[in-house]
Amino acid sequence: MHRDEEFTGPVTFEIGMKAMRLLHGRKGRLPEGVKDISDIIMPDASRGALCNLAYRMTEIENLEKLGSTLPRGVMFVGPPGTGKTQAAMSLAKASGWAFLKTTGADIIADPRSWDRLYREACDVRPCVVFIDEVDGILQDRRHTGHGMLTEQLLSTLDGAAGRTPDVLFIAATNHYDRIDTAAVRSGRFEEKILFDVPTNKAMAAYVRTILASKLDGAWKVETGAVAQTIRLLSGRTIADADALVRKAMTLAALRRMREQTVDFRVADVVYAAHSIFAQ
Ligand SMILES: Nc1ncnc2c1ncn2[C@@H]1O[C@H](COP(=O)(O)OP(=O)(O)OP(=O)(O)O)[C@@H](O)[C@H]1O
Ligand SMILES: [Mg+2]
Repeated sequence: MHRDEEFTGPVTFEIGMKAMRLLHGRKGRLPEGVKDISDIIMPDASRGALCNLAYRMTEIENLEKLGSTLPRGVMFVGPPGTGKTQAAMSLAKASGWAFLKTTGADIIADPRSWDRLYREACDVRPCVVFIDEVDGILQDRRHTGHGMLTEQLLSTLDGAAGRTPDVLFIAATNHYDRIDTAAVRSGRFEEKILFDVPTNKAMAAYVRTILASKLDGAWKVETGAVAQTIRLLSGRTIADADALVRKAMTLAALRRMREQTVDFRVADVVYAAHSIFAQ
């Protein structure tokens, strides 16, 4: 809803909540440049699940009337840099919900911050509460010293039961195998969405698109530079692809300024990959 849009007709719960959010100002607002769900490279099944979730969030009131509902919590599972945080923001963007974020480490460092965050979420709802790197807290309790915090977090989800689920908890982990089974029970983080590095085909398409958008007609692309970029990114993440292209473009742009050349070379890509990936 835009600021200049007028409220007419009965003030529904949803309108009341949106008005509250305007009053709360920036709290829960997304940063600039959040990607659309369609811009996230992910397995088809996962994208389907994400779109379905976004739809259910948008239609939460109608869904409730029909006796259906949203999950209380969702777990995003996948290796680092595969788009979990981005996807959580995309979901908030697609549904128009507010977005608040914390991490397992933040909650461990300041356990009271969790209750504060939940209260904030209730103030700005409908709201996505995203907990990044949740492993530390939701790890099987036999292996962690954070049993109390696990209880605290899960009891927030349990306590929210019965209410309109317009605070959606999303937790992200790189280690689903370590998560306490109690955390993924019904009424808790009951749905799972998988993230992974892109297939070679998806990576090739992504690389071609971003290089085409950055290397306009003023550049001369050396034969093999695009293919080499794709090869070097095989098995890597979109975050890696973004970093590699940024670095290679910087090298080419610096040379262009110093030497009045306009070429984007295989060597730029190779050097960039070496400096980013070779540890
Ligand atoms: N599958 C993807 N599609 C589109 N963009 C992506 C994808 N994966 C990563 N990115 C981009 O790479 C950057 C890092 O991604 P993000 O922080 O979402 O990864 P993550 O899975 O949350 O990683 P971590 O486990 O380290 O927290 C973001 O700028 C994001 O836009
Ligand atoms: Mg993340």
